[in-house]
Amino acid sequence: MSVSRPSTDTKWQQKDAADQNFDYMFKLLIIGNSSVGKTSFLFRYADDTFTPAFVSTVGIDFKVKTVFRNDKRVKLQIWDTAGQERYRTITTAYYRGAMGFILMYDITNEDSFNAVQDWSTQIKTYSWDNAQVVLVGNKCDREDERVVSIDRGKQLADQLGFPFFETSAKDNINVKSTFETLVDIICEKMSESLDSDPTVVNPTKVTRITERPSQQDGSCNC
Ligand code: GTP
Ligand code: MG
Repeated sequence: MSVSRPSTDTKWQQKDAADQNFDYMFKLLIIGNSSVGKTSFLFRYADDTFTPAFVSTVGIDFKVKTVFRNDKRVKLQIWDTAGQERYRTITTAYYRGAMGFILMYDITNEDSFNAVQDWSTQIKTYSWDNAQVVLVGNKCDREDERVVSIDRGKQLADQLGFPFFETSAKDNINVKSTFETLVDIICEKMSESLDSDPTVVNPTKVTRITERPSQQDGSCNC
């Protein structure tokens, strides 16, 4: 499976993907209706690029980016899923093992907002119980075409218990903050799990959380 749009720095991506020098690896997924801007959001974050042309994603692919949180190297494996219904069986198969989701709608598209509840149910159905979710209303640069108010976005996020951002992949608004928030809440959840259940230091359990068995010290300081 591949994303239809080629990366501008494939060589670096491959190098980064193969890089074993990290403390934690988090698998993240970006989900939401077709055309809300998932691929654009990922390209903005990983490559700092944006293309106005719409090339709908076929299936699923990922990009890798390493970030630093509190002196820890956190390698993010970010999966970009196709929003089109016909790929749903393929994409939901990747929910398992994901530690975080960016659930995206388009502030100029009512249908994409109405679909958020269904996407949230899909997360509950197919993913790990402790998976963290951030709700994102993308394309906030298109204020003139807005049909979903920021208040409605916030209300829905509160109801679902998710942090919320309005973003623009085009103008690079809140893209980095969204990923940073997701990484932070995953780290918080990991710390809580370790505090409330000391047996979680058992390497097999840590493996499930971090997908990195050999270099775990059993604590999360990220
Ligand atoms: P699928 O792959 O079909 O699921 O769609 P997608 O969610 O990946 O959408 P994609 O990133 O391909 O973007 C769809 C269209 O919206 C493209 O024409 C993008 O250029 C445009 N777009 C994405 N993000 C923004 C944004 O923040 N602002 C504006 N104005 N356009 C955007
Ligand atoms: Mg796409």
